[in-house]
Amino acid sequence: MAAGLGTRMRSALPKHLHPLLGRRLVDWVIGAARDAGVDRLVVVTSPDAQDSFPGVEVAVQERPLGTGDAVRAARTSLDGFEGDVLVLNGDVPGLTPELLTALLDTHRRERAAATVLSFEPADARAYGRIVRDGNGHLERIVEAGDASDEELARTEVNSGIYVFAAAKLWPTLDRLQPQNVQGELYITDTLGLLVGDGEPVAVHVADEPFEVEGINTRVELAAAAAGLRDRINDAHMLAGVTIVDPATTWIEPDVQIESDVTIHPFVHLRGATRVASGAEIHPHTVAVDVEIGARAVVGPFCYLRPGTVLEAQSKAGTFVEMKNSRIGPDAKVPHLSYIGDAEIGERTNVGAGNITANYPHKPGLPKTRTRIGKDVRTGVQNAFVAPVEVGDGAWTAAGSVITKDVPADALAVARTRQENKEGYAARHRDD
Ligand code: UD1
Ligand code: MG
Repeated sequence: MAAGLGTRMRSALPKHLHPLLGRRLVDWVIGAARDAGVDRLVVVTSPDAQDSFPGVEVAVQERPLGTGDAVRAARTSLDGFEGDVLVLNGDVPGLTPELLTALLDTHRRERAAATVLSFEPADARAYGRIVRDGNGHLERIVEAGDASDEELARTEVNSGIYVFAAAKLWPTLDRLQPQNVQGELYITDTLGLLVGDGEPVAVHVADEPFEVEGINTRVELAAAAAGLRDRINDAHMLAGVTIVDPATTWIEPDVQIESDVTIHPFVHLRGATRVASGAEIHPHTVAVDVEIGARAVVGPFCYLRPGTVLEAQSKAGTFVEMKNSRIGPDAKVPHLSYIGDAEIGERTNVGAGNITANYPHKPGLPKTRTRIGKDVRTGVQNAFVAPVEVGDGAWTAAGSVITKDVPADALAVARTRQENKEGYAARHRDD
């Protein structure tokens, strides 16, 4: 279910599309369901967000009339499906496939018509309260806004995650009434109705509140991001990655890191970035969709953009930005440079403050490449105006603007010659 208004986010962007550590909020829930091995997956969304789920079956809820109505919107998509239907709130990013599997196990073991996943949060806030009878059986779920003081005092709450036998779900949804303070159809009321019918309804209690906490505000979104960050960092550390300060290290879920990589504080690794063994990433580095080779050294203050490949033992140093470039083995770009659409050969050293001028002279034209060979030494403050090639073993002089190819083993000087005017300063010092 991802068709709610998300009013409490106070945002023009639908709640489920808010970014959360490299994915959208709802993608975390979709990922957990997929990893749990569901047969079919239907996302219930609002009409304005229906194009946001390419490759996923989408059911549109025309108006947000409540969670019960949202599930009803998926009915046509699941026509003829007779198994167990997992119903997931779309705002539960900490969800794990293991927890969903445990929930399904309980549901099947208890031969239940429906099973709700409950938990005990530190603060029950606005969660729906689980009301059990004297024997500990579920009686109903009551929303905080509709609850009596006695019900509000209950500490076990509804996670918004359920399993229903399909045959019991659809007819019960048709009996829902909007008799509550919000005037909505609540999926939670189906459980009370099934209990009233004498159907077996089970409860599976989740141990870890973080895995089931729903996100309704940006405060909760930030807390979820921190929790997911810790979960990811813990997994990397247990697999042999040194993370000096996990609280300031943000690694997105699809990043792959080999063992014996060291990551210093304030590093952000994004997208499909891969880091090979022994690499060291110094503080304040941002890397998006890049490959960092074995024993490569990066940062501090380095920005590596998509398509960058640092080969083994290469270096992208301080205040260096790279995009769509390949830096050969043992090559170094140590200081203050922009390297875009370039290839730099092995063992080459790029001087401080080098810039590849890759921007096309007319908008819309493709960017052209700079090719710098192996064992090259470029001077400080060079600009390479693409397309241009520097041959193997060549040197370029400080301050050069390289617009023509440089042959292998040559020295290129491309700057105005210095002229000294003898005594000039002395004569004019008092002007
Ligand atoms: C819901 C539950 C509450 C539970 C809590 C857990 C109900 C009535 N209440 O409350 O018992 O403790 O989740 O987090 O179900 N949605 C739609 N269409 C709608 C309304 C909602 O698709 O018309 C979706 C939302 O996008 C969201 C989910 O359903 O993903 C839950 O909606 P939300 O408004 O967050 O419900 P809560 O108030 O959190
Ligand atoms: Mg919610």
